[in-house]
Amino acid sequence: MADAYNRVRYIGFPMAQTHPDRLAVIARLFGLAASPPGECRVLELGCADGGNIIPMALALPRSRFTGFDSAAQAVAQGRALVAALGLNNITLLERDLMEAGAELGEFDYIIAHGVYSWVPEEARERLLQICRDNLAPQGVAYVSYNALPGFHRREMFRQMLLFHLAGVEDPADRVRQAIAFIESLGQSAPSPLARALFAEELQHLTQSHWWYVYHDDLEPVNYAPYFHEFLAQARAHGLQYLGEAHFPEIESGLYNKPAVEKLRQWAQGDALRTEQYIDFVRGRLFRQTLLCRAEVALWPSPHPDPLTAMYFASAVSPVSPAPDLSPGVWEEFRAPHGAPLRSDDPQVKTALARLHAVWPQFMPFAELLAQAGGEPALLADFLLHTYGAELVEVSVRPDPFPLRPGERPVASPLARLQAKDGTLVTTLRHAQVDLADHIDRCLVQWLDGTRDRPALAAALHAFLESNPVAGAQPVTPESLEMRLDRLARQALLVA
Ligand SMILES: C[S@@+](CC[C@H](N)C(=O)[O-])C[C@H]1O[C@@H](n2cnc3c(N)ncnc32)[C@H](O)[C@@H]1O
Repeated sequence: MADAYNRVRYIGFPMAQTHPDRLAVIARLFGLAASPPGECRVLELGCADGGNIIPMALALPRSRFTGFDSAAQAVAQGRALVAALGLNNITLLERDLMEAGAELGEFDYIIAHGVYSWVPEEARERLLQICRDNLAPQGVAYVSYNALPGFHRREMFRQMLLFHLAGVEDPADRVRQAIAFIESLGQSAPSPLARALFAEELQHLTQSHWWYVYHDDLEPVNYAPYFHEFLAQARAHGLQYLGEAHFPEIESGLYNKPAVEKLRQWAQGDALRTEQYIDFVRGRLFRQTLLCRAEVALWPSPHPDPLTAMYFASAVSPVSPAPDLSPGVWEEFRAPHGAPLRSDDPQVKTALARLHAVWPQFMPFAELLAQAGGEPALLADFLLHTYGAELVEVSVRPDPFPLRPGERPVASPLARLQAKDGTLVTTLRHAQVDLADHIDRCLVQWLDGTRDRPALAAALHAFLESNPVAGAQPVTPESLEMRLDRLARQALLVA
């Protein structure tokens, strides 16, 4: 297994759904006293090259991070990046799950993304045992895994591919032949249903990175339990279900009320059995489950109260250019994800209008309440609902990055390094942005705090003279400011 990962590198990247801030929000909504992300201890199992955990360590300098993986080369690459960034709050270890344990210490957050389904049974048991033994009393563990019934579809093709590719050793060849095989079978399939299934699989294979297909689809081990089976395994290790890392999935906002009622009847009112029925109806194939220690007393459903101590941001826009915020007038708000929201309630409309005005800045609950007016409990209820509908983002801490570029702007050192090699860079919000604009990409590399605006304008000007960019506008103070603002709004500046 480690050999495969040494042979073909698995390229890590930041996964917002594993960030301690995300985990803290959800855990606190269920009554857990989750540690503040700014001062916590995080363990990542199977961290590969540290593409997820290193940006966390950079952005949370007072927290401590440990990552381990059995693939020596990935760990060495991660360590080289840690050294280049000069981080001293992160340790990356070359270690097998089977040899990891108490010596690692106690953690507030434990992350295992893309590991559980791809390791043999004894390693899966060990993974859950670490999630129990090394988790702080109020800690949160994140474990992702392929799930049934949806994974049956993938598994059907996987078995065909493993049969067809027996004896093909070269990794790139395996992936090439896998795609050609599925494409060709799909063309010969006699029924429309079979053709649709082949087309779905082909889309999955061709839209994924080749190294991802090599590992995730073509490795010999790929275990997918039903949700109830996973829970039974977690329980056997002294862990209980907390929720999913994607909060809207907890809220079941995706299903109409009568359908959910029917599922609840089948589940005899049991929330966890309802979850299982929801997987049946959705044909779910992947879960990102949060666990905590079995003895913690959790609230049965998310409670709005903890939101009164949190922070909110929203990419919603009012449909009307000048929404009327007075009572009884209906206005519509839209966000990049989620359904549109219509309201005639002044508190709701003002809250959304204020969040729109300051986006992408986070606003504390107290300030939002001061502006929107009304009852705190109603605002908290509304925010819980809109978090579940993907209309607002929630954080347990104030903005981690400045939205105004400083006098001598500084870009995240990780983004500066990444911009040298490519266009994908990691933001301070633990996501990736594509700096497709060549000039922005150069600018990021120069933002090391040594240049003020005239120096930056001169550097850009000199660069454009020697490397003309088609269609590039001349550098003016306004155009430079616009670029700096854009980088700040993309959460790429630390000062
Ligand atoms: C599918 S990759 C996921 C990597 C990373 N967590 C991510 O999601 O980007 C699985 C990782 O688990 C590691 N791994 C597999 N078996 C392991 C074991 N027994 N002990 C430690 N790491 C293991 C592999 O080396 C690989 O880096």
